[in-house]
Amino acid sequence: MKIFVYSASLREDSVNLKLSKLIANVAEANGAEVDFARINEFDMPMYNFDDQQGSGVPAGAQALADRITAADGMILTSPEYNWLPPATIKNAVDWLSRMQPMPLDKKSILLSSATPSLVGGVRGLMSLRIAYEALGTWVYPKMFTLAQAPGAFNEDGTLKNEDLSNMLTAMVADYCSAAVALNNR
Ligand SMILES: Cc1cc2nc3c(=O)[nH]c(=O)nc-3n(C[C@H](O)[C@H](O)[C@H](O)COP(=O)(O)O)c2cc1C
Repeated sequence: MKIFVYSASLREDSVNLKLSKLIANVAEANGAEVDFARINEFDMPMYNFDDQQGSGVPAGAQALADRITAADGMILTSPEYNWLPPATIKNAVDWLSRMQPMPLDKKSILLSSATPSLVGGVRGLMSLRIAYEALGTWVYPKMFTLAQAPGAFNEDGTLKNEDLSNMLTAMVADYCSAAVALNNR
């Protein structure tokens, strides 16, 4: 089982990057082979139909598509900007949606988010899931949101709150087994 784990934050000290590293460890502990990435690795301009017609899909978007295609499933951690997903991931989804074959079709995804707020990033994830569902992606019903994220991690990258830690482990384990089944449909 190969799972593509990636973070949509560009920031070096990102709480979403921390969460995605933890998720990668949890997935590996559940037997997954993890392919790990940050969105910084996939350089692409803002989507423009004229650019696509003139020079095709940018190399960064194609590289992201290839990594998604090679995996059984994907787990994304995304910041929330103004109750929405940041432009990084929306722009990536827009480029992916124009490709043939379309790499998100019939793939699955587990969405997660970390924010410093008291409520976590569930509002941003709700709108992000609509875009994936529009593109035919199986979006795992539950989403993991980490509130007050800057203070939520132990030194070793695990979560201080044991209940949250158990919830994350169960969700990742269940998603990984579902991803393999969905990818083989
Ligand atoms: C433009 C902008 C908008 C933001 N909007 C929200 C928001 O709607 N909800 C929220 O919980 N945090 C919001 N934040 C705070 C981010 O959650 C915080 O900066 C977080 O650390 C970003 O994730 P990262 O550390 O993974 O980069 C916003 C931050 C920025 C820069």
